[in-house]
Amino acid sequence: MLISKELNQAMNNQIGSELGASNQYIKIAAYFENENLPDLAAFFFRQSDEERMHAMKFVHYILEAGGEVSIPAIGATAAGIQTAEEAVQMALDWEMEVTRQINALMDLAIKQSDHIGQSFLQWFVTEQLEEVSTMDQLLGVVKRAGEQLLFVEQYVGRLGAAQAGGAPA
Ligand SMILES: [Fe+2]
Ligand SMILES: [Fe+2]
Repeated sequence: MLISKELNQAMNNQIGSELGASNQYIKIAAYFENENLPDLAAFFFRQSDEERMHAMKFVHYILEAGGEVSIPAIGATAAGIQTAEEAVQMALDWEMEVTRQINALMDLAIKQSDHIGQSFLQWFVTEQLEEVSTMDQLLGVVKRAGEQLLFVEQYVGRLGAAQAGGAPA
């Protein structure tokens, strides 16, 4: 098999993190839907789908490399989101945490001279730059908008149109 037990275990944990993120983003989307902010809701539903896709990338990689998939318990989503700023801050904190996790996976693959693993993980390293910067910008827009969240709706609406148009998600 092309994957060490240790990296296999760490990637299984990452599947849990990605699915956990997917659930968190459903929760955030639901908050925005309840606040009658459909573009923000749609944005986070899309993010949720993306996180599931990330989890599935790990699943398929582990299988291809001859490892064993096991999925850890996934915690309940954060309760009681009060404001848009809090919701987006939570998403940004989560992306920063995932970035640390991906870096740790890469460190392990490097330590083990697992070049195939490194090449697989490189996609996630690049993806995290995108994810963190998207959330960071969104947080900036939300803070600037204050109570005027309809401006944020326009912003994520445009973002959604750009993504649908084939720009990087
Ligand atoms: Fe992810
Ligand atoms: Fe993400």
